[in-house]
Amino acid sequence: MILVTGGAGFIGSNFVLDWLAQSNESVLNLDKLTYAGNLGNLRGLEGDARHVFVRGDIGDAALVARLLAEHRPRAVINFAAESHVDRSIHGAEDFIQTNVMGTFRLLEAVRAHWLRLPETERTAFRFLHVSTDEVYGSLAPEAPAFTEQHAYEPNSPYSASKAASDHLVRAWHHTHGLPVLTTNCSNNYGPFHFPEKLIPLMIVNALAGKPLPVYGDGLQVRDWLYVGDHCSAIRRVLEAGRVGETYNVGGWNEQPNIAIVKTICALLDELRPRADGQSYAEQITHVKDRPGHDRRYAIDARKIEAELGWRPIETFDSGIRKTVQWFLDHTDWVAEVQSGAYREWVQVQYQGAA
Ligand code: NAD
Ligand code: TYD
Repeated sequence: MILVTGGAGFIGSNFVLDWLAQSNESVLNLDKLTYAGNLGNLRGLEGDARHVFVRGDIGDAALVARLLAEHRPRAVINFAAESHVDRSIHGAEDFIQTNVMGTFRLLEAVRAHWLRLPETERTAFRFLHVSTDEVYGSLAPEAPAFTEQHAYEPNSPYSASKAASDHLVRAWHHTHGLPVLTTNCSNNYGPFHFPEKLIPLMIVNALAGKPLPVYGDGLQVRDWLYVGDHCSAIRRVLEAGRVGETYNVGGWNEQPNIAIVKTICALLDELRPRADGQSYAEQITHVKDRPGHDRRYAIDARKIEAELGWRPIETFDSGIRKTVQWFLDHTDWVAEVQSGAYREWVQVQYQGAA
């Protein structure tokens, strides 16, 4: 069995579904079910005995210790986090609690468990920490993409809290010998993406006839990776990554935000044309920029390719088409996650502009 934390969130639920589609190894899924966690993502696993869901906090040391002793997973994959930059600007407390304190407590519980394992199990055990390219900070337009050697220069409360968690994971390896692996991935997109993030927000707002709020000039650059490719990278690192190493994961697909938004509009124009015959691009609205907005992220994913033979399968064209189609086909899911808490967030962040 493996223990997945945060497996009811966007990437975690994709990971759990992909894992159980390809393997018979069971998954113990520990998730606090914050606003971002949704058991509806895992509906396809109802009645499947290979999936054991536990609602709880990675920072609950007693609970984690009990789960580890009871289920004896051979690996822990840590997705659980507060993940939204804009929310971290409005209030960083939850980010420090989960991303920093939670990771610390999880590491301590895992270390105590790992130390008690018999030799062969202890040698095979892995703690894989899922992190982000945002820990490296912002790149100048022509600067080379982030390698694993790039200095950590986090700029937002979110990226600072993730950087802190990466450092803790590193230290638990160097000081305590815990067999860790860390992945730093670029922006994901795909099914079950919570509509507070750029791509799903633009799709659901477009369809609802609402403004498409582009921060500032929209020329901020991100690298985008289809979530299924991120999941395959994590599986590969877990399987063959060298203990103590960090692997950057990316899609070789840098694009300015405005280009992403226009691509979404063009796809919707094709797949679900507006009743008035106008383009969804008419709904694009430039709004106040995010404070401290990182201008560019780019990932150099050559290490994971050279060492582990991983490359993304989806192109951006294929991945974004699948994603837009998924949102068109899953309006029930969108309605379900757009709960009261979601509406409150939209009110705070966009003050009626979206
Ligand atoms: P998400 O916000 O969609 O999901 C996070 C999940 O963690 C939710 O199910 C939530 O309920 C759960 N959670 C939060 N606090 C918890 C706690 N204290 N204990 C247990 N569960 C808790 O996030 P995501 O986009 O799926 O990201 C998953 C991980 O991948 C995060 O660590 C994030 O930093 C990292 N990451 C995300 C991206 C991206 O583009 N989304 C890119 C690179 C790395
Ligand atoms: P986001 O999906 O929040 O990911 P991150 O900030 O972690 O990269 O945002 C992606 C980019 O899109 C980022 O540059 C901010 C921008 N953005 C907008 O322009 N408008 C929006 O409403 C949102 C949510 C994001």
